[in-house]
Amino acid sequence: MKGLKTVFALAIATVMFVSCGDKKQDKASQAEAPTTEAKAEKEETVRILITGNDQMQFNKSEIKVPVGKKIKLTLKHVGKMDKNVMGHNWVLLKPGTDMAAFAEQAAKASATDYIPASEKDNVVVHTKTLGGGESDTIEFTITEAGTYDFLCSFPAHFAMMKGKLIAE
Ligand code: CO
Repeated sequence: MKGLKTVFALAIATVMFVSCGDKKQDKASQAEAPTTEAKAEKEETVRILITGNDQMQFNKSEIKVPVGKKIKLTLKHVGKMDKNVMGHNWVLLKPGTDMAAFAEQAAKASATDYIPASEKDNVVVHTKTLGGGESDTIEFTITEAGTYDFLCSFPAHFAMMKGKLIAE
């Protein structure tokens, strides 16, 4: 009985391994196709695309992510305006950080891409600041469940460009 179970488990593992291999060959479908194989899903990277536009908006105000999984997040500036006029970044703050206080410091930190050195301990991860047509991809893993604020830290943008990342 025990031997049979082992054989069965091996057969499943082989099927999963093969289907994983197929997906890696086709990166586009890997990014979009939802999978029902729980085990295969566990091994995949979570991909998130967030856009910012010339109307000072992100396309998402809430992002849900699984704890402990590698996340590949791309910020794309889909507008045309210059970085100095309509710059966008995506900054994830540690829970409990005062967003308004952070943004006030960030607004003065143009020399460091609007990430103030004094606030570095409050930042989980951030993208570069982008102008129209540009994009930046970052990789990170959330290790603690919770609700995290995100914002664009370009001066005055956080009033409109902010949201929650929920890790569970
Ligand atoms: Co912005």
